[in-house]
Amino acid sequence: MNSSEIRQTFLDFFSSKAHQIVPSAPMVIKDDPTLMFTNAGMNQFKDIFLGNKETKSRRVADTQKCLRVSGKHNDLEEVGHDTYHHTMFEMLGNWSFGDYFKKEAIEWAWELLTEVFGIDKEQLYVTVFGGDEKEGLTKDTEAFEYWKKHIPEERILFGSKKDNFWEMGDSGPCGPCSEIHVDIRDEQERKKIPGDNLVNAGNPLVIEIWNLVFIEFNRQANGELVQLPSKHVDTGMGFERLCMVLQQKKSNYDTDLFQAIIRAIAQKSGISYGSDPKTDIAMRVIADHLRAISFAIADGQLPSNVKAGYVIRRILRRAVRYGYTFLSLKDPFISELVPVLAQQMQTIFPELFKQKEFIMNSIRKEETAFLKTLATGIQRFSSYIESAKSSKLKDQNTDSPTHQFTSSSIIDGVFAFELFDTYGFPVDLTQLMAKEIGWEVDMEGFSKGMEEQKARSRHAATVDTDDWTIVKEDKDGQLFVGFDQLTSDAHILRYRKVKTKEGEFYHLILDRSPFYAESGGQTGDSGVLVSGDEIIEVINTVKEHDQIIHITQKLPRNPNQKLIASVDKEKRIATANNHSATHLLHAALRQVLGKHVEQKGSLVDEHHLRFDFTHFDKMTKEEIEKVEKLVNLKVRANIPLHEERAIPVEKAKEMGAMALFGEKYGDLVRIIAFDPEFSVELCGGTHVPFTGQIGMFKIISEGAIAAGIRRIEAITAGKTEEYYNEQEHLLGQISDLLKNPRDIIRGLRNLVEENQQLQKIAGEFEKVRLKEIKESLKQQIRQHNGISFLAATVDLDMESMKNIGFEMRTEVGNLYLVLVSSSEGKVNLLVTLSDSLVNDRKMNAGQIIRELAIEVQGGGGGQPHIATAGGRNPEGIPALLKKAETFVM
Ligand code: SER
Repeated sequence: MNSSEIRQTFLDFFSSKAHQIVPSAPMVIKDDPTLMFTNAGMNQFKDIFLGNKETKSRRVADTQKCLRVSGKHNDLEEVGHDTYHHTMFEMLGNWSFGDYFKKEAIEWAWELLTEVFGIDKEQLYVTVFGGDEKEGLTKDTEAFEYWKKHIPEERILFGSKKDNFWEMGDSGPCGPCSEIHVDIRDEQERKKIPGDNLVNAGNPLVIEIWNLVFIEFNRQANGELVQLPSKHVDTGMGFERLCMVLQQKKSNYDTDLFQAIIRAIAQKSGISYGSDPKTDIAMRVIADHLRAISFAIADGQLPSNVKAGYVIRRILRRAVRYGYTFLSLKDPFISELVPVLAQQMQTIFPELFKQKEFIMNSIRKEETAFLKTLATGIQRFSSYIESAKSSKLKDQNTDSPTHQFTSSSIIDGVFAFELFDTYGFPVDLTQLMAKEIGWEVDMEGFSKGMEEQKARSRHAATVDTDDWTIVKEDKDGQLFVGFDQLTSDAHILRYRKVKTKEGEFYHLILDRSPFYAESGGQTGDSGVLVSGDEIIEVINTVKEHDQIIHITQKLPRNPNQKLIASVDKEKRIATANNHSATHLLHAALRQVLGKHVEQKGSLVDEHHLRFDFTHFDKMTKEEIEKVEKLVNLKVRANIPLHEERAIPVEKAKEMGAMALFGEKYGDLVRIIAFDPEFSVELCGGTHVPFTGQIGMFKIISEGAIAAGIRRIEAITAGKTEEYYNEQEHLLGQISDLLKNPRDIIRGLRNLVEENQQLQKIAGEFEKVRLKEIKESLKQQIRQHNGISFLAATVDLDMESMKNIGFEMRTEVGNLYLVLVSSSEGKVNLLVTLSDSLVNDRKMNAGQIIRELAIEVQGGGGGQPHIATAGGRNPEGIPALLKKAETFVM
């Protein structure tokens, strides 16, 4: 079976067991502060396990795009070096939400593997949770008994909490698990060492393929385990590993999933896979990382400098570097592999194929930039080695006891860290380059730098969250009423305290709320909660796992009491104006620029709107005007809002609604249309009842934010009025300054011309002044030991000092000139030497200036014949001038 057939067989099998097949959730997570990427199939169902969310089907199966590169589950370092770990992988899973439990999960897993897929039973082992005293958890004898019906006892192994108790993170749903391992060694090998000795022992041919988790608990933030109201099943099977087993290969990379990509890499590099372990690793790294990067970008996460974007950037750089170092691929190449992957995934993950060009462009840009840094970093490395070598030589001559390079050929850890931090140089690359010249890296120093940086970022991100305090039984769940009303009665269901860098806050969850929680690019509502005579301000409203969280700075005295929740109306209206305007803008862009325009991000608040979209060229002035005009036309047409709540997603798509890649939509969606012929979008935000309320729309900026992505910022209603008023005011001020001429432009043009004339005249005067200064300096030159020496203070800026220095070099023989000027506590310094002094007397302006700058607490450098420096201590100028003289003695 090829990989597509294997995937389909899995889905069909569970479909036949009454499971609903659902699509993969996006790999990039947007509304969970504890998780950047989907790292397990169960992530998207977390709220169902916790009982926060209802489910339509109690049995579900899918293939889920996962990425394990950060947090609790992180396999990055292994990837490529071994044959069965990946950054991005597909996890096949089946779920029971309070429906079947251990018996069926075990029975079906066994049936699928041995009867449908035909894996030899002799090659399978299973593990069962062996209990944990500290946690007060007993052995999972129930699972053991079910397994015994299928597999001899000696192939059922009891495992520790580490291997057989699955948790998604530091908190959240969890439970004991049973893993299925497969032994794919040759028969001879299997006879020599029985497979049960090798389970969970790091052998690449005896590996886990399926994990059946029996979710029963919720791990609280304080570490406690709390029993969940129902029991659930969460299973996850490594798809790539399954393909390896079924295709009778010894490495995931030998399956059809990776071979096409590896062949493309081999072709690009002219090196064949299998010819050398080192180049093989590089090819595996690249093949793996290509998938992680492409899927992340398809889901809307571009490489960047922060958070999830930084993770993607690091993966991409790791791939580039392996190509650069081991396959001699010195030009961008990863982007060119995208079509192979996109083609392969076309039916199951069409998001790659549909955005192929965009993904390629984004990767190419990132590769190009990193290859440049890589080259600069390598240069920086070489000059470090050069100067370390010459310092060493000097030290040997002068016998300096203090110098840092006296110990043999060690690269300073601080420098290695600088390479990492500034040039994105992974330390193993620095080590590799060091090794090639017989040097070593001071890894302790490097780790120290790393630790310090980590501590800094940990500190920056600390958020301390208490567990929820339940106030009221949450029977009917939360109700959002904010589409229809801005005020509502409410009760607090639960609250918790949260400490962040900014201070202490409370998170409140209400049974009914008119507050819109930040999502889909629209900022959250603010407002008040009135409880008796208390008024509590809601600073912001956010969403976490589909719960509306109201953020306040205090709790009502009596949290049980009924509240009146009221949204800040003005802010809500201004935000709705901007949100509806964003929809009109989106539609207008597609009309004016073309259907390739896809939304790539948006931000809507009460002040403005921001819209990111795919488009390759800068928009011309005419295009911007056309878009503004079209939007304003629709505003004046005063189109009524057409809203449909809870319609099936398929029907919405038929209506031509624009859905976004990387967004998670439920089965039922909401549609917002302003004229079904013009703008129809899937959207959960708040909107104007009639477009006329938007008043007037104005684009205030347009620019690029990444390869092929442009950003528009715009304003509406009152802000547009303010904008035009300011422009008018500005014009008034200019006119006043020009003494209110009848024609402002002519007035300005005259001013510019006059200014140019005056500059010309001033320049001529300056030339004369400089010449005079130069002549007077020449008069002051004294002869010492055949050197024409002068050290003097002048009243000139650096540029003029340099000009005078250059001229005097050509006019005075054997010149050694030091010029110093100071203004506002800053010192400027110039040293220049005639070539004769440089060549015959081995004098060096760069060295001299370094010594002199010490006197004014500064530094600088330059070439042997001319050097400049700055300083912070004008008091030291007399000492500096004196020191200058010592160089001719
Ligand atoms: N959640 C479990 C895992 O990720 C099974 O799906 O291994």
